Amino acid sequence: MQKVFTNIGTLAQVRAFGTKILRGALMADVPSLKNAWLKVKDGLIEDHGTMDEFQADSTYEVIDLQGRMVTPTFIDSHTHLVFAADRDEEFVMKIKGMDYQSIAAAGGGIVNSARKLQEASFEALLDGARQRLSEAISSGTGAIEIKSGYGLTLEAEIKMLQVIAQLKQEFPIPIKSTFLGAHAFPHADREKYMKTILQEMLPEIYSQKLADYIDCFCEEGYFTVDQMCHILEAGEKYELKPKVHVNQFNAIGGIEKAIEFGAVSVDHLEVLPESEMVLLKDSDTIPVALPGCSFFINIPFAPAKKIIENGLPLVLASDFNPGSAPSFNMGLINSLATMKMKLLPEEAFNATTYNAAFALELQEEVGTITKGKRANFIVSKPNRTLNSIAYNFGVNWIDSVYINGERF
Ligand code: NIG
Ligand code: FE
Repeated sequence: MQKVFTNIGTLAQVRAFGTKILRGALMADVPSLKNAWLKVKDGLIEDHGTMDEFQADSTYEVIDLQGRMVTPTFIDSHTHLVFAADRDEEFVMKIKGMDYQSIAAAGGGIVNSARKLQEASFEALLDGARQRLSEAISSGTGAIEIKSGYGLTLEAEIKMLQVIAQLKQEFPIPIKSTFLGAHAFPHADREKYMKTILQEMLPEIYSQKLADYIDCFCEEGYFTVDQMCHILEAGEKYELKPKVHVNQFNAIGGIEKAIEFGAVSVDHLEVLPESEMVLLKDSDTIPVALPGCSFFINIPFAPAKKIIENGLPLVLASDFNPGSAPSFNMGLINSLATMKMKLLPEEAFNATTYNAAFALELQEEVGTITKGKRANFIVSKPNRTLNSIAYNFGVNWIDSVYINGERF
């Protein structure tokens, strides 16, 4: 059914098709229409305008929004949404004073999630993932990336990726899947696990077409820059572009190599030396910051404001996972980015909508209110503005979420 939404107080992020990611000062502007209408047809945005030139058409179902704000849905370009169990016991260890690395050394962390996932059935994993993804969409996410990386055996990594493939079938939003076999070493024989990734996992993933991207946790105690290079080189052979975890705790040189491999994005960046900022500025690789992770495990926030001040583009994502960021709420990510990273509400909003689409190569489909893009948008509760998304931290500002023009 075609619909027209009328009396929209603010229709935010109205743009023509954008071919370039927003860099630097351009991130401070969110073009909007006041007192607007929005037409939706066949799941797409058909047209928009202002109420003073609105012409009624009886073939459209009319939804009077009585001044509510409409924004595009968020795009969450970095999540680990498929997992077997929460790690709330580690949360308590953290409260009692242990840090992320000591918890991992004590048998917690990624390997803890892997043990549980290896034992979980496909159906159980799918059920949990379905529930979380539904909740994420209800909280405003209209396109998402989901990583493997809690399997760490051939069978378990394939099982995870098959769960993601099933979510792609069942859910109405764009989903991209990323192979993160190189998330942690499951046993002491690192050479052997590298071989498992390169010679067993990757060919199988390629033959079943289970991944869109390849990832690697390049960090002290995890994968070295050299190991990451081997993995990204193999990824090239199997047509998987990189999106990588780098510079979370230490700068060990991963950014330079990720750029050389044409990475779509480099994610985390809590530790970002000036020299690597310069490399990023001269590249097409997108910096992605994950403020939920910094907040939750109490580590420095990525220098997001500096990234913007240096004229770079910025994307923000949730990093939703059971260990370091157990929230998929992109509104909260906007709050953290403003409060802790000193971004303007407009900068945070662009970093989670327009720019975030580029980090998943979905800029032609989602991220803005644009004729011909998917009708994925959020209707706010009454009396909300763009500022309120970040300002009212932890408060639900959403009245309803529309995906492909249908109420979710
Ligand atoms: O992005 N840093 C690596 N991976 C995840 C955390 C995974 C976990 O602790 O389970 C992250 O923060
Ligand atoms: Fe992550």
